[in-house]
Amino acid sequence: MPKRIPKILITGGAGFMGSAFVKLLIKGSFSVQGELPFVVVDRLTYAGDLKRLESVRRKFKFYKVDICNKRQIDSVFKKEKPEIVVHFAAESHVDRSINDAQVFIKTNVKGTQILIDACRRYGVKKFVYISTDEVYGKLVHGKFKENACFKPNNPYAVSKATADLLVQAYVKAYKFPAIIIRPSNNYGPWQYPEKFISLGILRVLEGGKIPLYGDGKNIRQWLYVDDCMRGIAAIMRKGRVGEVYNLGGIGESRNIDTAKLLLKVLGVSPEQIEFVQDRLGHDIRYSLDSSKVYRELGWKAQVGFIQGLKLTVDWALQHQRWLKSKLPDINKLYK
Ligand code: NAD
Ligand code: DAU
Repeated sequence: MPKRIPKILITGGAGFMGSAFVKLLIKGSFSVQGELPFVVVDRLTYAGDLKRLESVRRKFKFYKVDICNKRQIDSVFKKEKPEIVVHFAAESHVDRSINDAQVFIKTNVKGTQILIDACRRYGVKKFVYISTDEVYGKLVHGKFKENACFKPNNPYAVSKATADLLVQAYVKAYKFPAIIIRPSNNYGPWQYPEKFISLGILRVLEGGKIPLYGDGKNIRQWLYVDDCMRGIAAIMRKGRVGEVYNLGGIGESRNIDTAKLLLKVLGVSPEQIEFVQDRLGHDIRYSLDSSKVYRELGWKAQVGFIQGLKLTVDWALQHQRWLKSKLPDINKLYK
């Protein structure tokens, strides 16, 4: 008997990570005949782009829907009756949240509440919330385990932490069948060029320099996007309901070292760096302990940092038009 795939609804599926997840699901279903049970819901904000899914366009159903619109969400759930919901949709960029927090609270908090209420009404069997390592706040030494306290330091992180707590409250109050995943910084193909690595590549492709905030000593734990998606898929399938899982990358690196490595991979001078004004409330370091997901599901990041940067740069060189099409928006953001 061929294995039945449950109907999976992915919010934010036209975004950087959501689209990589949709492609992974489709790739894993290559032997399945007929229509695949994948449904993508996305409002297509500045960050959403169906070009990311062009290679698999006919293999999923798409709804251009705002998760904050209860009526629209209800009508999708009524029609599609998803069994699993994987929730990526969010406003995701810290700098934008520092400029204006409003839409972050609306989409990330209210949108999540509308979605989980719909899941309860329509009897969704599993809800996977894509949270972030930023909920824990910064740390100088050691690593955060899943039971660390929340100390978010910017409006984006607060909005994600609030939604994370809301999901936890639904688990406790209603036995809501949720799993929470907290990944570290993702990078890779199709990332919107507002984020550090993709912005750095775009600036260099334009003949410019990589902008470094402050003294460049802040540390991030980089996770190649396909590694992260393998982890999310494993947790969705076999993770324990009601649990939280960290997904941390291999490459813990100071921003200045990341910039130098990136310049090396791009084959340009290490001088192509410019120090710019620091981000407000800039967290010094994030670092996750991912031993729980390794112990329970055998997941660990596999793509080394240099290898991942090479894959990202190769992709960027082949997709310069797409990256450069985002320049007007990027130049408005970082004027
Ligand atoms: P992204 O900004 O690339 O994509 C977000 C997607 O959500 C876009 O397609 C956008 O159109 C959609 N969206 C935004 N508001 C919406 C709304 N109101 N209704 C429906 N769709 C809406 O983000 P990403 O980097 O792919 O991140 C995905 C998720 O993972 C987010 O929840 C983010 O907080 C989390 N996360 C990201 C990272 C990272 O490094 N990128 C790390 C950890 C966690
Ligand atoms: O840690 C997970 C988080 O990673 C996700 O939850 C967020 O959605 C995602 O945006 C990302 O947040 P960061 O703020 O860490 O990512 P960003 O790429 O914006 O910045 C990475 C580091 O690089 C950070 O220390 C700030 C620095 N930076 C960033 C930009 C855009 C620079 O030095 N120069 C820049 O121009």
